[in-house]
Parts: sequence; structure tokens; C-alpha cells
Amino acid sequence: MSTVQTMMGKSLLGLKDMSASELMSILDRAAYWENNPTKISNVMNGRFIANLFFENSTRTRTSFEIAEKRLGAEVINFSSAESSVQKGESIYDTVRTLESMGMEVGVIRMKPIGLLAELAGRIKAPLVNAGDGNNEHPTQALLDLYTMRNHFGSIKGLTVAIIGDILHSRVARSNLWALREMGAKVVFCGPTNMQAPELAEFASYVTMEEALKADVVMMLRVQLERHAHGEFRSPDEYRAQFGLTMERAAKMASHAIIMHPAPVNRNVEIDDELVEHPKSKIFTQMSNGVPIRMAVIERALG
Ligand code: CP
Repeated sequence: MSTVQTMMGKSLLGLKDMSASELMSILDRAAYWENNPTKISNVMNGRFIANLFFENSTRTRTSFEIAEKRLGAEVINFSSAESSVQKGESIYDTVRTLESMGMEVGVIRMKPIGLLAELAGRIKAPLVNAGDGNNEHPTQALLDLYTMRNHFGSIKGLTVAIIGDILHSRVARSNLWALREMGAKVVFCGPTNMQAPELAEFASYVTMEEALKADVVMMLRVQLERHAHGEFRSPDEYRAQFGLTMERAAKMASHAIIMHPAPVNRNVEIDDELVEHPKSKIFTQMSNGVPIRMAVIERALG
């Protein structure tokens, strides 16, 4: 269940079952907010939104906070490191506690997979997935789609190569579902021990040479924190086999773009010089996170 209607609004748990028209309506609303960059809206005046991050974040947490403040909302930033989670309180009890105090939307990042759907069934306030384990990161994929649409005019017909640690990537999964729904073709490329067999029916695995022919070359960070069996041998070996080096980037089509959700491991999955290269949309993606999250928060509160 990716989109759940609650008593108070709409949760966003993932993009797997989201229709093209709903995806499009979020992108269109983000475009509205991007075109009103200095406007502080009062649409959320007096509404309490809590950002609950049980896993580290820079981009997602701060861009949600900026988005919420641009909408005029009251923002509560909950940090698990300073909370009673450290005394053993469960994620459910934490979210339920904030709801009982007046939280109207909960933006949640956490490691466990499946827990968010369970919470959404027990919490009345709409919940927004800010990344759960390797399952989904819907707002990252939405801002990625938004970035592609802004650059190419349309997503339909694009080929997007997602390269790297597919197995541990929630970004790859959310992008896969949404891009396919929007009419793009997704191909994967990565080391054998970082491939996700359950996704093979939706996107084929190709060589680096083939992946570099795509319209969008999306590099992924190696998710070392999720590796259980020493999948990653060395940064140099990884760069040599699957890194986007200057030499490889020179083989990309002239119209093609480079994307990466960040944080970036410079000179591992992508060369330092490419991060702010004219082909790179990495910092544009981060900027686009704000209007996308404004659209998602508005949608959550109906
Ligand atoms: N792309 C992304 O989710 O970054 P953070 O982990 O910093 O939020």
C-alpha cells in the first residue's frame, strides 16, 4: 500500500502503486511552488508537522523543514538520538506520542521495512515516508522525476540507467516504479553482489558501456551501512569497474545528464570533477527537493 487515505489526509508510503496522473499532479504542484520561490504561504498556518528521523539525513530532513516553513507550518524536529528511543521506546510509541500532542503530519525516516505501513494503519495523522530501509524513498524519486522533466520536457520515452548498489537502494526502487509508470525505460548496472534479483523482471542489468548510452545516468552511493557480508572490497576497485570516471562520462550522449541522490562518495562512484560538471544535475536535484516536498506536505493535509 503506497498511498493511504487517513481520517485526516493522505499518507505517502511509496510510489509503487501511484498512478501517472497522481505523479504528474505532484510534479505540477511543485512547479507552482518553484515559480513562487520567495512566497511564504499561509496555507499551513498553525498546522503542526513533525519530522521524525530515526536514521541520519542532511538533504531530506532540511528540505522538508524548509518546505514546511515555506508553507507557514509549525515544525517539530524530533531527533531520535536525544529522545526516549535511547531508553528503548518503540517507533510506534514515539509517533503515537507526538500525535497525541497535536502532530498533524509525520515525516518519518527509519531503518525497518514494513513498519511504516503498519504505523499508517494505527496512526490517524497522515505519514510521509522520508526513506525506509532499502524499500522506498518516494520524495527523492519525485524530485528526480521533476529534475528530468524540467530538463527534457517529458519523462516518457527516456532511458534511465541506475548504476551501483541497487540491492540496498530505496532510491533505485522508488525511481523504478515511478519512471516505469511515467513511460520511461529503466536499466540497472552494478556489481553482481549488489544486484536485486526481485527487480530483474522490471529492469534488465546491462554493462557499463551500455548504461552510458542512456539519457540519464543516475549514480548510486554504495550503502556500506547496509552491507552484511563485505560486499565492497575497495574504493579503487569499485571506481575502476563501476565508477563514473571522466573517461566514461566523455562517452555519454551530448544531451545526457548525470544524477545522484547524494551524499556522494567523491572518486568512488563518481569522479570529483563530475559532481559540479555542466552535465551534472546533482545540486539541482537538491534544490528541487524543496518544491517537491511542499507539494507532498500540501497533499498530505488535503
Ligand atoms: N538523498 C538523501 O536522502 O540524502 P539524505 O540522506 O542526506 O537525506
